[in-house]
Amino acid sequence: MSATLKYHGHACFSMAAGGKRAIMDPFLTDNPMAVESAEDIVCDAVLVSHAHSDHLGDAIEIAKNNDAVLVATYELAVYCQRQGVEDVYPMHIGGGHEFDWGHVKLTVAHHSSSIVTDESIVALGASSGFLVTMGERLLYYAGDTALCADIEFIGRMNDLDAAVLPIGDTFTMGLDDAVIAAKMLGAGLTVPMHYNTFEVIQADPHEFVRRVQAEGLHARVMEPGEEIGL
Ligand code: NI
Ligand code: MN
Repeated sequence: MSATLKYHGHACFSMAAGGKRAIMDPFLTDNPMAVESAEDIVCDAVLVSHAHSDHLGDAIEIAKNNDAVLVATYELAVYCQRQGVEDVYPMHIGGGHEFDWGHVKLTVAHHSSSIVTDESIVALGASSGFLVTMGERLLYYAGDTALCADIEFIGRMNDLDAAVLPIGDTFTMGLDDAVIAAKMLGAGLTVPMHYNTFEVIQADPHEFVRRVQAEGLHARVMEPGEEIGL
């Protein structure tokens, strides 16, 4: 068995195996890094780490278009259900579930989860990351998070084929902390995300890759639209 990992820009990745695809944090509309539009996405599952607009993005539309299951922490999943997504699967941190396309376990992410509009700010529970298993490959999708001791625990408990980590600073761990996280995780492949989309999250992904490689680990930059084997 094997799986592929595709980068869609910013914090959006999808993983595919056995003819099934799960997309994570599909922010495509108004995403300057995206090369596809929401209506082009074909998938079986939509995983949403938290409600911020650069993560919830087009998730509701994509889930509806594909009759895909939407997986998120409880409050966010219920919110999406009330927006018309028929198939939602609410979960919470530490919980895992086996779907017909793969297995997901929610991980701690030190961050918030809210929808901010001109009229109101709605808090939607906890932010999360994901451990996704498809095609016997295990991916750690960190989501938006600070560097934290939980990441060391995740590295110790799991034989990770790949890890995707934010490096953009300001809202998440920055490059220095992401290098420490990569060492803690020791994944077969480390890929940076959540950088350069906006002025306030500028970071050099090639510097990140060089520094992770200097620790004896495999790392690479993925370009939006690129898909690789795991
Ligand atoms: Ni966020
Ligand atoms: Mn974000």
